[in-house]
Amino acid sequence: MDRPTLFDFHGVSMIKQFTDSWEEVQNFKARPDDIVIVSYPKSGTTWTCYLMDLLFFGKTCPERLLSIPLQERVPFLEISRTSPTPEYLQKGTDLLDQLTTTPRLIKTHLPVQFLPKSFWEQNSTIIYVARNAKDTAVSYYHFCRMNYCMPEPADWSTFLQNYKEGKVSYGSWYDHVSGWWEMKRSYSKLHYMFYEDLSEDTGREMDQLCSFLGLSLSAEEKENILTRVKFDNMKTNKMTNFSTIHHMDQTVSPFMRKGKVGDWKNLFTVSQNEKFDEDCKQKLKNPTLQFRYDA
Ligand code: A3P
Repeated sequence: MDRPTLFDFHGVSMIKQFTDSWEEVQNFKARPDDIVIVSYPKSGTTWTCYLMDLLFFGKTCPERLLSIPLQERVPFLEISRTSPTPEYLQKGTDLLDQLTTTPRLIKTHLPVQFLPKSFWEQNSTIIYVARNAKDTAVSYYHFCRMNYCMPEPADWSTFLQNYKEGKVSYGSWYDHVSGWWEMKRSYSKLHYMFYEDLSEDTGREMDQLCSFLGLSLSAEEKENILTRVKFDNMKTNKMTNFSTIHHMDQTVSPFMRKGKVGDWKNLFTVSQNEKFDEDCKQKLKNPTLQFRYDA
């Protein structure tokens, strides 16, 4: 399969798969009760989507957990039909139009300036999940190796350089996490979460999410969800581990790879780490936005 190439899309590096439906995406009709789950790729999107799906539908629609892959329960807004494999025969916008459950849970990786305006006009709820730049880079590198719909990552050191320069799909990690962080100040229906916090105490983060969403769950329901969203359980669950998607070669690297904070230490050299820290200091300017790089 031919790998796609990156191009400049209104100042952000993108691939066709995520821009081919641009008109439908920009004209998407949001609803006030829509919930958008936003992240830079490889930041714990799938984890958050599953958690949200369980919070809203785990009790009322348990059958959907067994028969519908997560990527259909929480459609990917901007994915277009250009994917050459049959799993994504439907555009994200079409899948969303067909959803019968409420609220609609919508996944996107769009940077803040690209979110369709209708979500702001309708005052839809937004959940943003961010992950530290180094673990995200490592996870993204392995993802590009195994996913033939992503640009060829080349070797690690080339990939890391491209990542630092924003020459990967969805552009600069720095712009993404900072752009959404800034938006939090003016848009009250945005809840900003961190992968590292989820990893440290999923129950605490789930409680905060419930309080933000106005949900109240029994202790038993919470316990049940916490078990389901554990890394090992999601890894063996065919509905959450992306094993139904054939353009991902999980023998190259599994989608549910390690699920750890601090795995970057296994790939970054000392010199790569020093240069990365310097670069990060220049690019991540807002002192209120802090990331943790160790478990
Ligand atoms: P690693 O490659 O570091 O293992 P996304 O869903 O945004 O593509 O993010 C994928 C990353 O989240 C992968 O990271 C994956 O293993 C991790 N992940 C997914 N589910 C997880 C869970 N339940 N607990 C911890 N990490 C999880």
